[in-house]
Amino acid sequence: MDAPFPFGLPLPTAFYLTVYVVTLVLHVVFMNYVLAGTAALAAAYLRPGNRGTGESTAILKEWMPFMLSGAITAGVAPLLFLQILYKREYYTANLLLFNRWMAILPVLIFGFYALYLLKSRWLTRRTGCIAAAVAVVPILSVAFTGYSWTENHLLSVRSPAFWGEFYGTRAQVYHDPQLLPRLLVWAVGSVPTLVLVLAWQHWYRGTGRPASLARVAGTGLVLVTAATAWYYLATDDTTRQAFVSPLAAPYFAAACLGLLVQSVGWGWVSLSPALDGRKLLVPSLGLVLTVGGMTVCREAVRIAALGPERFESLFPGHAEAFGKGGLFVFLGFFAVNAALIVLVFWLVRHHSVTKPGPSHNPHGTPET
Ligand code: HEM
Repeated sequence: MDAPFPFGLPLPTAFYLTVYVVTLVLHVVFMNYVLAGTAALAAAYLRPGNRGTGESTAILKEWMPFMLSGAITAGVAPLLFLQILYKREYYTANLLLFNRWMAILPVLIFGFYALYLLKSRWLTRRTGCIAAAVAVVPILSVAFTGYSWTENHLLSVRSPAFWGEFYGTRAQVYHDPQLLPRLLVWAVGSVPTLVLVLAWQHWYRGTGRPASLARVAGTGLVLVTAATAWYYLATDDTTRQAFVSPLAAPYFAAACLGLLVQSVGWGWVSLSPALDGRKLLVPSLGLVLTVGGMTVCREAVRIAALGPERFESLFPGHAEAFGKGGLFVFLGFFAVNAALIVLVFWLVRHHSVTKPGPSHNPHGTPET
């Protein structure tokens, strides 16, 4: 493990870790959109006199059910690889949290239906208080799910001796000093991703105000830098060293460079009166660098927390799974599912009430 990720690892381990990281990045993009997006929706409805009107709110309302299903579906792929990579760790944490962990399923279903309710005509005929009450359900359910994943992850990297003690307490909630700062990094880190995807959605419609989008993205970037600094200070030496270890150092540098590229990119975007697709490519590149880099660093932190002996004891399991067949069946199902997702995307866009009309002009004057 003296080489940058994924070099220096046995082929099966390197393969599973790489596909795990790539698929997790996809999950993170959708998950960030729903985390920050449902918070923005709730804020819009909670503002006195505001019934969730406004161009950005309309886009969020329209697309949120699709994005939530995207986050859930895109979570399945890394979940499959996670089980091959860290089978015992993942399942032990799951079993220890038990009902608490399984609660994410009904909670997400509630959140999902509240999002559909938010789009319904029925809600427009209700009072502002009822609409606001419905609008807070999605963010509560999404935040609870995110919290559960972090809690489960932190418990999964504890030692078997700790798991034994935890089981003895019969507790179903795990608290860790890293929990709050880590959650904060996820929470505020979701803002720049949401703003970027939203900016592309606005660009497609020929709407959106570059300066205000850039302001929110910039605030998100400052907050995520501050939250990461708090996480760095609140964590232990093993975690701190993992970021600058040979395995992760180039990726950590890429993530920091990504923050810089995003900041410069948003500054450039804000100078135009209307959203410019070519300019938006700059913060997009920065975001890929930051999210990709941080996802590798996150894995390096887990590997460091497990320790070399425990991590290396997982290698034979990876080699065994790698030796099994089924790649073509997997690729076949992958193609079918990818086609279905594209179809659903097309259906949402086709039936969108906020889709651009015949006057659509991505480079035209903003409507907002
Ligand atoms: C839509 C609500 C969801 C939110 C807000 C969410 C949020 C998160 C967060 C914050 C993490 C990182 C935890 C950490 O590193 O501290 C995470 C990891 C992950 N999520 Fe999600 N998630 C959601 C739904 C799902 C679903 C439904 C699945 C599976 C079908 C899933 C699969 C995963 C996987 C596999 C990981 C990596 C876990 C690990 O490496 O330990 N997520 N998610």
